Amino acid sequence: MRLIILGGPGSGKGTQLAVIQKSLGIVGISVGDILREAIAKDTFLGNKAQPDVAKGELVPDDLMVQLIRLELLQPHLEAGWILEGYPRTTVQAEELDFVLDDFQQRVDYALYLEVSEAVMLARSLQRSRPDDTREILHRRMKNFQEQIPPILEYYGSRGKLLPLDGTAAPEVITEQILNHVGG
Ligand code: AP5
Ligand code: MG
Repeated sequence: MRLIILGGPGSGKGTQLAVIQKSLGIVGISVGDILREAIAKDTFLGNKAQPDVAKGELVPDDLMVQLIRLELLQPHLEAGWILEGYPRTTVQAEELDFVLDDFQQRVDYALYLEVSEAVMLARSLQRSRPDDTREILHRRMKNFQEQIPPILEYYGSRGKLLPLDGTAAPEVITEQILNHVGG
C-alpha cells in the first residue's frame, strides 16, 4: 500500500502519519521531518534547505525530487509506505509518478486533511518551532493555498483522492482513513 498525506501547516499530517503507520504496519516518511532533522544536523541537504524552510518557502523541486527518489529506493520500503508532506507542487506529483513507474508501483490513495487557515494558524502557533511564527506561517499558508488546487485535481481526476475533515477528532480521522484504505 502506498499513501500520501496532503494538508496545510498544522492540518494534522504528522499526527495521522504516526498512528496509521503503526496500524498498517508500513513505513512512514515525513518530508518536513527529514528536512528539519537535516537542518539540525547541519548536513549537505540541511544546508541547502535551511534558507527556504526558515522563510516558510518551498524548497526547490529539483532538490526535493532527488531526495524522494533516494528515499523511495530503500529496500525496506518494498512493502509500501506513507509519504507525508509530499508532493507539494504538481512537478513533485508528476515526478513521484515517474519514479514509481520505474518500479512498476503507484500511489493508492491521496489523503487530504482539510482545515481552515484559522485552524492552521491556531494549532501551529501553539508550537515553538522557529518557522511557526505568525509571519512565516502566513507565507507557508500562502504557498500551500497556491499549490494545492492542481494537486487535488491531479489525484482527484485519477480517483485517488480522499478528502477528510481535518477538524474532526484525531481518532475519528484515523478511523475514516483506515476504513477507506482497508486497514
Ligand atoms: P513541514 O514540517 O511538513 O510543515 P507543514 O506542512 O507546515 O506542516 P506541520 O508539520 O507544521 O503540520 P502537520 O500537518 O504535520 O500537523 P501536526 O500533525 O503536527 O514542512 C516544513 C517546511 O519544509 C516547509 O515550510 C517547506 O519549507 C519545507 N518542505 C517540506 N516538504 C516540502 C516539499 N515537499 N517541497 C518543498 N518544500 C518542502 O499537528 C499540528 C498540531 O495540531 C499538533 O499540536 C497536533 O497535536 C494538533 N492536531 C493534529 N490533529 C488534530 C485534530 N484532528 N484536532 C485537534 N488538534 C489536532
Ligand atoms: Mg508535520
